[in-house]
Amino acid sequence: MSRVMLPRRLGALAARSTRLTRAASTLAPPDPNVDFESFAFGLNDVRTEWMWHATFDAASGEWSKGGLVPHGPLQLEPSATVLNYGQCIFEGLKAFRQPDGGIGIFRPDMNAARFREGAARMLMPQVPAETFVAACEAVVAANAHWTPPHKGGTLYLRPLLFGSGAALGVAPSPQTTFCVYSSPVGNYFKGGVGEAPPITLEVSSAYRRATPGGAGSTKAAGNYAPTFVASKECKGRGYSEVLFVDALTSSVIEEAGASNFFAVLPCDGGLELVTPPLDASTILPGVTRSSVLTLARDELVHAGLGLTKVSERPIHLDELANWSEAFCTGTGASIASVGQVTVPTGVGAKPAEHKTAGWGAVTKAVAQRLFAIQWGECEGEQSRGWMHAVRPR
Ligand code: COI
Repeated sequence: MSRVMLPRRLGALAARSTRLTRAASTLAPPDPNVDFESFAFGLNDVRTEWMWHATFDAASGEWSKGGLVPHGPLQLEPSATVLNYGQCIFEGLKAFRQPDGGIGIFRPDMNAARFREGAARMLMPQVPAETFVAACEAVVAANAHWTPPHKGGTLYLRPLLFGSGAALGVAPSPQTTFCVYSSPVGNYFKGGVGEAPPITLEVSSAYRRATPGGAGSTKAAGNYAPTFVASKECKGRGYSEVLFVDALTSSVIEEAGASNFFAVLPCDGGLELVTPPLDASTILPGVTRSSVLTLARDELVHAGLGLTKVSERPIHLDELANWSEAFCTGTGASIASVGQVTVPTGVGAKPAEHKTAGWGAVTKAVAQRLFAIQWGECEGEQSRGWMHAVRPR
């Protein structure tokens, strides 16, 4: 079947005041005419019908009421601060269809907190956590029929906060827009844990992503466009993604594309699960990263996998000679097993290639625990209260 879903209502934002009025006592099931299984991580030619829109006016110091409006283009002055100076942060979070047909959003409180920190870093007004979560929930409920079936994909939410006011001066915007739109996306793992081919990473010799004291730990839109060329060049050489190292010594691992990086390394007769620390403000504090650390520390250490330690510490490139597993984490990427890291060793020299079979025991255990929570397959305390149930509107 065709998967092209033309916008049902691409209303211009002249319709901003439109509010949803239709009463619904249950969440709509997935649209049976949509082939969600064919979706990749992207727009998939779909525009969901509703998005959240609110504005903050610096002169009055107040947010507009905010609410659902038809999904559609945003109108901006050419002098809008976001277009000229890149004053913009975003978030990424996912809604999962639960076994009973309900929908849960994974840890929106964590994204709300990071969004507030990012707003402060970029001198934008902060969105109250309850507004952020309510907006996400409203967008999911209104677009429930676009939330794929249980384990057949997810509804990806993209909250934005950006300087939308007209201003030429190099200063924060007189107006800020908070917008949340959504898109159904495919499962990263077609075939499930252990079956997707492990990804390959190439350490970038030419590009650095962040510097100490910079904004690398902020989910600023401006952190992403400069990585496009690095990613494109790696992919052109056959790798899945770029692996960034630190700007000062070029020897310490930071992030893989738009994902956090974990490695399993030998330690005192056992195994250590390691990810780079957040203290130099060069690493994005990922929600999946934090969740993996919690699950590994609470449930996987000394649990028969050989894992004896979980650390947030620098990972030097030369430690990869001894790795047994590695994986990347992110909301978009979920958990991606790494099968190869290639490290350039100098012009004309053969690069070092570190390889594993991928999907080792620790990676599998982490993914299985996380996915069981996200898909509503564990009971009571096992689910840790990480799924925010979406109420019908
Ligand atoms: C996410 O993992 O959700 C991200 O925001 C990273 C990327 C898709 C831009």
